[in-house]
Amino acid sequence: MKLPLILINFKCYKEATGENALKLAKTCEKVANEYGVNIAVAPQFTDLYISKKVKIPVFSQHVDGIEYGAYTGHVSPLALKEIGVKGSLINHSERKLPLKEIKNCVEITKKYKLTSVVCADTLMRGKEIARFNPDFIAYEDPFLIGTGQAISKVKPDSVKNFVQAIEKISKVKVLCGAGITNGEDVKKALELGTKGVLVASGVVKAKNPREVLEDFARSI
Ligand code: G3P
Repeated sequence: MKLPLILINFKCYKEATGENALKLAKTCEKVANEYGVNIAVAPQFTDLYISKKVKIPVFSQHVDGIEYGAYTGHVSPLALKEIGVKGSLINHSERKLPLKEIKNCVEITKKYKLTSVVCADTLMRGKEIARFNPDFIAYEDPFLIGTGQAISKVKPDSVKNFVQAIEKISKVKVLCGAGITNGEDVKKALELGTKGVLVASGVVKAKNPREVLEDFARSI
């Protein structure tokens, strides 16, 4: 996956549901192409058909650590692969999993060649997750999520420390997220050693998401 990665999590925001999800994904695609940057999107399960409509990477917001078979109400990696999804968030702080389950999810995503982005809310959790060797760990402080207070600006030492500690024990690439709203926040995140950012409200809830995405792109 081309770096840096700007991953936009659509969550269940109304502004990024159904038709709105497709529209926002198309805007992300346009900016990604115009600026030559890697912008990926993570819509809800019901909007994952978007992967057939855009050429940028589409991620799932969650995947279950299962194969295929009798698993009612689950989302299998096979189904994600079949629909053209490139990867999945795992253990987002709004969709937390026990450690054992995280391990299963990472293993199954590897098997299906899906890019894994595992969220961690503390360095201790990050270190435990690094042992499973996901593609990315996204460091997110839950208290800053949705606040517009960027983790890269408010807690730079904590991000830097996280990156260095993970680099010491693994080859896993680190992203950071929570409160990222402008190009300066992205620039700062990259300066701290991350390989990209995980963003939601700063783009999805913006008056003009295209302008925000362009600001991100220019900062790279
Ligand atoms: O997954 C991204 C996230 O939890 C951060 O949310 O709204 O602070 O960008 P937000």
